[in-house]
Amino acid sequence: MSHDELAAAAAAVRERTGRPTHTVAVVLGSGLGDYAAILPGAIAVPYADLPGFPVPRVEGHGGTLYSVAPQDRPILVLSGRVHTYEGWPLDKVVFAVRTAVLCGCGIVVLTNAAGGAGDGLAAGDLVLIRDHINLTTRNPLVGANDDRLGPRFPDMSAVYPADLRQMAHRAGERAGVPLKEGIYAWFLGPSYETPAEVQMARRLGADLVGMSTVPEAIAARHMGARVLGISLVTNLAAGISPVPLSHEEVQQTAQEARSRFTALLDALLPELAA
Ligand code: HPA
Repeated sequence: MSHDELAAAAAAVRERTGRPTHTVAVVLGSGLGDYAAILPGAIAVPYADLPGFPVPRVEGHGGTLYSVAPQDRPILVLSGRVHTYEGWPLDKVVFAVRTAVLCGCGIVVLTNAAGGAGDGLAAGDLVLIRDHINLTTRNPLVGANDDRLGPRFPDMSAVYPADLRQMAHRAGERAGVPLKEGIYAWFLGPSYETPAEVQMARRLGADLVGMSTVPEAIAARHMGARVLGISLVTNLAAGISPVPLSHEEVQQTAQEARSRFTALLDALLPELAA
């Protein structure tokens, strides 16, 4: 992926949305993807119309970029992401986020479904990501560095800055949606973790286990953007849960959390964009 390919995608976003710049991007995770469809006045652009965008191979819908402008502050909502476990190369996994940053987004909100590994977490909890642990040995920055995108050795001391988490906590209070905080460990998947792997992650300091978000956070930070991560605990992680994990449970919890998640984003996004 070159700077030119990303610039072409960003130009297409500007042309198709009619908006020269956007300020915040939101990536919607598993089960949370229909948030944008309910936004009034959203301009929808299929990923398939955007050069270089990877088109998710999931049931029915191939991914859509939405542009909305509460209080005239344009926001990009990316519904549909591709994962490393599907076999996508990392430059495609991070392509949409990089395009969004080139479109002007200085804040990237990454949402996901995750397993709860930390003490005190329950299915249905919404958890702000305080930091991450990369357990995959993969990194989207491997390869030649394009200095137009960011530095060779980007600092990762504050990928998820405290002030953004504070804004999210305040939005959660206004919306009546309490938020916890935790450390997210990236596993490659697509098999769920074993109980021993979950115990390992706990001992390393992780509260959440999941299969996304971290490569996008690294790429966004590489480009100088600030990241807010929000995990929905769709299930207790393997071995902590008394029952086997299932994708159906994950989807069902996401469905049940939908109204709280929507209320949180409705309260948070205009403030982040302001
Ligand atoms: N592990 C990894 N990814 C997940 C999980 C899990 O338990 N739940 C939802 N996504």
